[in-house]
Order: sequence, then structure tokens, then C-alpha cells
Amino acid sequence: MSEIATIEIEGKKYEFPIIKGTENEVAIDIKALRGSSSGVITLDPGFKNTGSCESAITYLDGEQGILRYRGYSIEDLAEKGDFLETAYALIFGNLPNKEELEKFESDIKAQSHVDEDVKKILDGFPKSAHPMGVLASLTSALIAFNPDSEDVDSEDEMYNAIVTILGKFPILVSWALRKKQGLPLDYGDDSLGYVENIAKLLFKKPNSDYKQNDIIINALDKLLILHADHEQNCSTSTVRIVGSSHAGLFASISAGISALWGPLHGGANQAVLEMLEAIKEDGGDTKKYMAKAKDKQDPFRLMGFGHRVYKNFDPRAKIIKVAADEVLADLGVTDPVLDIAKGLEQEALSDDYFVKRKLYPNVDFYSGIIYRAMGIPTDMFTVMFALGRLPGWIAQWREMRLRKEPIGRPRQIYIGENHRSFVDIENR
Ligand code: CMC
Repeated sequence: MSEIATIEIEGKKYEFPIIKGTENEVAIDIKALRGSSSGVITLDPGFKNTGSCESAITYLDGEQGILRYRGYSIEDLAEKGDFLETAYALIFGNLPNKEELEKFESDIKAQSHVDEDVKKILDGFPKSAHPMGVLASLTSALIAFNPDSEDVDSEDEMYNAIVTILGKFPILVSWALRKKQGLPLDYGDDSLGYVENIAKLLFKKPNSDYKQNDIIINALDKLLILHADHEQNCSTSTVRIVGSSHAGLFASISAGISALWGPLHGGANQAVLEMLEAIKEDGGDTKKYMAKAKDKQDPFRLMGFGHRVYKNFDPRAKIIKVAADEVLADLGVTDPVLDIAKGLEQEALSDDYFVKRKLYPNVDFYSGIIYRAMGIPTDMFTVMFALGRLPGWIAQWREMRLRKEPIGRPRQIYIGENHRSFVDIENR
């Protein structure tokens, strides 16, 4: 392939380098386009054809259903790895050796507490508050309690901010849940592993000892690993763009949480379960909802189907589907909502509309079913997604800062009024 792309604008030719990634992905480097005397920009709403950065963190091939973190396949990581070593690999580039992992874990544990005054902020929220809003707010509030974490330039300062948020975030997640459930707030248990501690933070009841359930820990570990990064999606791009102004890590993460909240992104896992419940309440007629999803006059979409990048299958969905079957069987859960999910999946996979548009079940189609079996309320599903995505956001923020990327500042094509005169209010 040629190493130069030529663009002709009004008879004048401009040349731009062609960039190739390590997996042979190809891009036209248009950094010089506007400054090259062309004065022209590109227009790509939704960034469907636009790379915002070069990144060495996550590779995904939507056509072949490949997802790798730092070169390690998601299948290997989910089967052989755990969440903390996956987080380390994402953030620092390689799977850690024993000493590296021990140090990382102990640095995180040293930060696994939250200022008691944060409880006062939590107190101010009504119980009905959506836990994603609570989590975004508390993450932002952490800045005030850890001012050193904000203005970070050196790798050491970044490291301290990273272990601080990794230590404190699970506590905030559990507080968002426990507030809703009217349960006492807990600080977890340093003697436990990272994911075991998360389970205790979430599930411990005040009147009994917490008993670890290996099936739940395994499933939780897998779910967190599978959600840990997904290259330049909406929330990750948000984290990078907010961080590009040199806003600190916690501010960038808080913005990422808000971006993840939406039903077209992380909020889909909540939306899937709500959709399945609604279909059940409506008599379980999956065909009726398939027809609604295909009707262009109807805004209804089959939540948990389709993906901007995966146009064959979502490799995370494949792993989670198996995990969901195992968890439900092991916990002895029979769930009518699962039958509806299976029915919808069968119909969609053989339906022309879905096949033609390459709409397959995505990760969120199954994750909610597992969370529900674990006893996590529906509006906490996206919070669980955020907990898994945290290392990815951190890794992307760190990479952006270390590469000294410029502030994110897209351009636009203005389509408003041309210059017009100011008219006094009496004459309008
Ligand atoms: N149900 C019905 N039709 C759909 C769906 C769906 N779930 N998804 C896409 N389509 C149709 C869409 O109407 C369009 O049809 P047409 O070409 O006739 O206009 C075509 O498929 C392409 O859709 P699009 O909206 O242009 O595709 P996109 O790449 O912009 O959107 C998506 C991707 C994930 C936002 C979309 O598929 C969707 O809304 N899915 C449901 C929400 C969901 O499950 N989101 C979770 C994504 S995975 C977790 C994550 O990474 O955040």
C-alpha cells in the first residue's frame, strides 16, 4: 500500500502520510490538513471514521471479534488471570511479576479508606438518587479530600493518584449501593484480595459474618476483567478529552462515569433488564417487541443488541454467556426473565433485519442477568460496569498524559445565521 494519501480540493492536491498500526490498521494522518493552506477540516459526527489518538493499550477487531489488552487475549485473561493483574497490565503495559503485584496490591490497600466526612455528602442524597449520579459526585468530591492527586505531572505523582482511586473507588461503589439498601457503610477488609473485598463491601449484612462464595467471586472477577477496557469508546474518550485539559485523574474519571451512564453506552445493562422485565409484564410476547425494534416509526430498540465496532460477535458476550449459565446453575436460580432473553436472542439471530445490520447480543445483554442472580439491584448494574472500567480509564488517562497529547478541541462546520444586526427588544 502507498505511504501517501492524496486529497484533491478545488483542483489542488495535498499529500498526507498513511499511518499503520501494529495490527496493520491504516489511517490517513490529516494533522496538517487545515494548516496546509487548504483551510479545510474533516466532518465526522460520532467519530465513526476518526481516530482520536495512537494507543498501545487495547486492540479490538470488530469484524473478527478479537479483543486484547496489551496483547493478551480477553479469553486468556478471563480464564487464567484476575482483575488486579489485568488492571496492572492495562495501566503499566505488562502482566506483573509476583513482587510487582504484591507492591501494587499493598499500595492500593494503604489507600482503602475514605474520609468520614464523605459520608456527610452521601447523606445529602435522597435514597431514590440514581447510584451513577451518586458515584460521579462522590468521585469528584474525593478531589477535595485528596488535593495532592490533582496536579500530577511526574510518573510517581501519577502512580499515587492511581493507587488512591483504585483503593477508594470500591468503597464509594459499595456506599452507593448500601445507602439505597439502608445498610451501614463499611470500609471492607484489608486481609482479602481486591475482588473478594469488593464482594464483602457489597454484600456484607450487619447481623452476620460475610461468607465468601467462590462462584460469585469467580463470576465477578470475570465480569470486571471483561469490562476493564474497550479502547476509544464514549466514556474513555471523555476521560481522555477531560484529562487533556490537565484536569486531574479523579475529575476525568468522574466525567467518564457520567458518559458511561447513558443507555446507549454502559447504561444498556440496566436498560436490558428493564426491557426484559417489561416484556415479561406484558405477557412475554417477544415477537411483539422484535416488531417494535424493527419499526422505524417506533423509537424502541432491542437493548443489548448491536455495537458500534463489533459487526460479527462481541467476544465478551460469548464469555459472559457461558458464565451466566454457570452462575445461574450453581446458584440454583431459575429466572423467567432469562427465558425471555434466550427467546429474543434466538429470534434476533435468525431475523433478516438484525442479520443484515449485523446486530448481535453485546456484553450488556448477559451481564445484567448475572448481576441480578448475585442480588445486585438493576440500577447498580452500570455502577458495576464503572468498577470494571476504572483500570481502563486510568490506563488511557495515563497514556494520554505520558504521550503529552494536546488538549482535545474538535472543530465544527457552522450552519447558523450569518451576521445580523442587533434589534432593540421593543422592535423584535
Ligand atoms: N435495535 C434495533 N435496531 C438497531 C439496534 C437495536 N438495538 N441497534 C442498531 N439498530 C439499527 C439502527 O436503527 C440502524 O438501522 P438503519 O440502518 O435502518 O437506520 C442500524 O441498525 C445501525 O445502527 P446505528 O445506530 O447507526 O449504529 P451505531 O453504531 O451508531 O450504534 C449502538 C451502536 C450500540 C449505539 C446501537 O446498536 C444501539 O443503540 N444498541 C442498543 C444499546 C446497547 O445495547 N448499547 C450497549 C453497547 S455495548 C456496551 C458498551 O460498549 O457501551
